Amino acid sequence: MKLIVGNWKMNQTLSQVKAFFEATAHASYKQTAWIAPQALHISTSLSLAGAKIKIGAQNCSEHDSGAFTGENSPASLKDAGASFVLVGHSERRQIFGEQNKTLSLKAAKALSHKLAVIFCIGETLAERESNQTLAVVKKQLREGLEGISSWDEGLLIVAYEPVWAIGTGKVATPAQAQEVHAALRAELKEMYGESGAKVRLLYGGSVKPDNVVELMSQRDIDGALVGGASLKANDFLALCQ
Ligand code: 13P
Repeated sequence: MKLIVGNWKMNQTLSQVKAFFEATAHASYKQTAWIAPQALHISTSLSLAGAKIKIGAQNCSEHDSGAFTGENSPASLKDAGASFVLVGHSERRQIFGEQNKTLSLKAAKALSHKLAVIFCIGETLAERESNQTLAVVKKQLREGLEGISSWDEGLLIVAYEPVWAIGTGKVATPAQAQEVHAALRAELKEMYGESGAKVRLLYGGSVKPDNVVELMSQRDIDGALVGGASLKANDFLALCQ
């Protein structure tokens, strides 16, 4: 079964959230569906989403509590019913300046509260064009997971999202994505043995209903992290079907 995760980013009004789950809560589809709404919509989403769809957050603090105005602690996200959190999305890295060191603390803290972590990595266009893709993503992986030695089965997930493919309509070819995923699988195996090899690897970046089947048919692609096409119930259901 593939894991399809919708990252709504800073989108969806309350009425759009309601309409989305009215259309999806009782729909049937084959794959596993998770949604990360804005944090303030987590509770509403949980009450509407139905049992099948897990709800998560797009970011979390590396701290449990304290004087960190505007942040959400992993403990509180867990309390609110979140099942997972995205860590290190390229927008967090690029717009908010988050670095691997902080991201590794966020990931460790979230895992300690039994939130699944979707750890996001990916190269820029300039890095791809100068043949640094594999070196860049391996470094992000090694530094971003530093200090994490184990996790409850299934809780660590890695998302490969080439920055040049996010929100641009330029999707990695299935072969490009598979090449990176295979390298990440090998790297995780080297780092963690069999539990590393079992980490689910999601592809993200302009995934749409018309390209999802080919991407998901690649051997090392276990699911998708989807922005734009996760906002409309029909598109999201098409991805999950
Ligand atoms: P798009 O699917 O809109 O390209 O966004 C991808 C993404 O950033 C998901 O986290």
